[in-house]
Amino acid sequence: MLIAGNWKMFRGPDPVALAGLDAVVCPPFTRLRECVEAGLTTYAQNVHWEAEGAYTGEISAPLLLELGVVGSLVGHSERRQYFGETDETVAKRARAALDAGLRVIACVGETQEQREAGETEDVLRRQLSMLEPHSELVLAYEPVWAIGTGHTATPEMAQDAHAFIKSLLDAPVLYGGSVKPDNAGALLAQPAVDGALVGGASLEVDSFKAICETAARIPS
Ligand code: PGA
Repeated sequence: MLIAGNWKMFRGPDPVALAGLDAVVCPPFTRLRECVEAGLTTYAQNVHWEAEGAYTGEISAPLLLELGVVGSLVGHSERRQYFGETDETVAKRARAALDAGLRVIACVGETQEQREAGETEDVLRRQLSMLEPHSELVLAYEPVWAIGTGHTATPEMAQDAHAFIKSLLDAPVLYGGSVKPDNAGALLAQPAVDGALVGGASLEVDSFKAICETAARIPS
């Protein structure tokens, strides 16, 4: 069971208060070092496919590894929605990061419109088609309509989507989208749910710890 906290562009909690927690944190770039120094399993929120070069505003896998960062998110829906990320660029980022020795959490998921149009499986198939299996690759199913909205997928919806994803690519699948201490238990109890990617509830020490404690109680 893997629990990852995505702090997005928020300062986030005091890393020292999370020391010893069995979880991944994805802080903003300015707090990566602090998280590494607190002994946390620290991931970036994005990573470029080139090792170095004229790519203003980007960060590379070797630069992250030098800092003690051990993984990265790629393809978060906010990157896809607001920053022009495509299935191709997500796949390039994932492949380069994995080749360089970073672990990767690659995010997929449909919008409300796509779900209502019955396109969920097509969207997931397209998003996954460019990714290749790898021992250090984890997927996150994050329905866009559930992110930051308080409208989480039901445990059954998550189970169905995860089972479909696993039928296409053999990898652990985290659920993300309004995971909170009070709904984490039911979501994580689903057999195809291998953990959670937590946004808002990872910004408070108590709620993030509560989700990690719930996860620790679920038999693997
Ligand atoms: P949320 O975000 O938990 O605030 O919905 C999840 C995510 O975007 O990773």
